Amino acid sequence: MHSLKGKKILLIISGGIAAYKALELIRLLRGEGAGVRCILTEGGSHFVTALSVSALSEEKVYSDLWSLTDEAEMGHIRLSREADLIVVAPASADLIAKLTHGLANDLASTVLLAADKPILIAPAMNPQMWNNPATQSNIATLRARGVFQCGPEAGDMACGETGWGRMSEPAALLEAVKGQLGRKALSGMHALVTSGPTYEAIDPVRFIGNRSSGKQGHAIASALSEAGARVTLVSGPVALPDPAGVKTVYVESAREMLEACKQALPADIAVFAAAVGDWRPSVSKDRKIKKSNASSAPDITLTENPDILHTIATLKKERPRLVIGFAAETENLEKNVRAKLKKKGCDWIVANEVGPDESGQEKAFGRESNQVYLCTRSDFEHWPKASKREIALKLAERIAQEIGDHEQARKRRNKKS
Ligand code: C5P
Repeated sequence: MHSLKGKKILLIISGGIAAYKALELIRLLRGEGAGVRCILTEGGSHFVTALSVSALSEEKVYSDLWSLTDEAEMGHIRLSREADLIVVAPASADLIAKLTHGLANDLASTVLLAADKPILIAPAMNPQMWNNPATQSNIATLRARGVFQCGPEAGDMACGETGWGRMSEPAALLEAVKGQLGRKALSGMHALVTSGPTYEAIDPVRFIGNRSSGKQGHAIASALSEAGARVTLVSGPVALPDPAGVKTVYVESAREMLEACKQALPADIAVFAAAVGDWRPSVSKDRKIKKSNASSAPDITLTENPDILHTIATLKKERPRLVIGFAAETENLEKNVRAKLKKKGCDWIVANEVGPDESGQEKAFGRESNQVYLCTRSDFEHWPKASKREIALKLAERIAQEIGDHEQARKRRNKKS
């Protein structure tokens, strides 16, 4: 099925090595039936040629703000008016800064300033440039203004450095475009997602925490939002940006997380991806425990935390229609996960193996990729290794299918009665 049939995309290709991925993106968008018109910036033209871009898009490529013929035939205002969505891929640090501050000194920045259509940016740059407070502040401003963002991803960069800044892969960008323009499968639904670790206070300074990065949970929140759901993300402390278009509520402890989840109800879908601490110190001291005051190391007794997943999955009233838990196991995966599905009272469990792989590296925690199993009441599916973003998109797609099946069954029941 051509899910973007008849849609018009204006693709702005700015300067960066990732510009080569824009060529594949044009191919994928056209494969889904979209028309693609491109603007190639001066920087972008150092990485890909106008000839390649026009050959793939089968359209004239626009570069010059001052071209009299272009301005007569297709001015910068019309370029944005005739598109359904403007995609900037790659979005360089420079173009992001221009868009943030309203500069308009070339065709791409002028079109963006004149745009009356949603804008989706795919940042791509060196990790230091991405982490620079100037870029981070620009990105936060753009997100607050409703500019959509896909990526960047972390990994090895063409410049030899490693970190956040790789442009998302064309397939992920295609999904983000579909999320904006395609039929929104989860429109009208409310999804609750938990993510990240919990911190359980020992005293005002110290806590018991865990190594969860929140990457998988945050990616799921984004994917559900792109699928049209209204999303409330309840997150423990993480070093990640808030996903665009998602209501993010920050908490520290498991008890705060449970409270925030209850506050967010009712929800149609609930995904519990957080690594919730099983125990907390029985007493959290008001003042920092002083080393000098203690004759020996203090004893910390622990109390069990509430199980948020179990609590929400077994609610009599307000149980979400689809409750999904996560499980990290080191052995006997299928048997343990099946038992957990029953014990927690949820509908599905996304499970992964944790611990060192053959080369001694941790398989899941903090990694960019993940290899999971989807355990439902009837199946145990092996999903191939993929980025956390791709897993999130696949999960959102499965959720949409399931909710669609629920809806049809409900309509059939209503017809009969
Ligand atoms: O029991 P276990 O920690 O393996 O269960 C993992 C699943 O349960 C995850 O979905 C996690 O978010 C959820 N959980 C929870 N509250 C807890 C412990 C786990 O919601 N206190």
